Amino acid sequence: MSLYPADNFEKRLTVQDFSPKPSTPWPVLTAYDAWSAKIFDDAGIPMLLVGDSAAMVMLGQSNTLAIEVEEMIPMIRAVVGATKRAFVVADLPFGTYQENPQQAVSTSLHIIKQTGAHAVKLEGGIRMQEQIRHLVDIGIPVVGHVGMTPQSVNTLGGFKVQGRGESAEQVIEDALAVQAAGAFAIVLEVVPFELGERITDVLSIPVIGIGAGNKTDAQVLVWQDLFGASNSVQAKFVKPYADLYSTMKLGAQRWADDVAQRTYPDGNHSYSEKN
Ligand code: KIV
Repeated sequence: MSLYPADNFEKRLTVQDFSPKPSTPWPVLTAYDAWSAKIFDDAGIPMLLVGDSAAMVMLGQSNTLAIEVEEMIPMIRAVVGATKRAFVVADLPFGTYQENPQQAVSTSLHIIKQTGAHAVKLEGGIRMQEQIRHLVDIGIPVVGHVGMTPQSVNTLGGFKVQGRGESAEQVIEDALAVQAAGAFAIVLEVVPFELGERITDVLSIPVIGIGAGNKTDAQVLVWQDLFGASNSVQAKFVKPYADLYSTMKLGAQRWADDVAQRTYPDGNHSYSEKN
């Protein structure tokens, strides 16, 4: 079974397909709607994450803290419904799992029953071990998330690089705790590439990097960042593979100009009595 390139577009991937660690890194993209999810599924992206980054890239907020489960449910349902092959991971929003393992379980059960998501992702290392353990115990596959965890933006003092110098040991301990609790994979966000390589070597579960260098087992990106969909300042790790912002802005202006000049719609794009 090759995760990427895809060797079978008909069969839905399962959690087993993502272990053990791959020899070739696999790609993960975020998706928040049926349209983008179908494109990425058709492209053979094996894992799609309905991230709480939706708060920022879909709802225009300045961080991920305010998004609610009920806002994410239609997005997750759309992504699952539009895909045939991708394994769909649903992010647990801030405040819906941190209180105790029971809260994590009831939020995850609600999301999975409402959407058909195949796994959940939550942020935090040692302090989230019990949550992860309880979820895995009742049969919910879990992706962990350590390093720069955006839901802790107020504690971290911004979206800053984590794990430089001595604090690297804490990130390693967190990653090991997530693995020991039973997560099948872990997101490692915005750490020095040396630490990305070290954690990838130490862990037996796949490490999905974002801003963690090129030695991790997989890479994840927010799709709007990958395709240059906004003209805002981007993090250093973002390398745009398209300029969607300019393409769409120019397209909108060209169409609006044609409307103003009555050159749209022309004869070829209008109905007559005959055809
Ligand atoms: O919410 C999200 O999209 C994420 C990824 C950036 C890993 O957590």
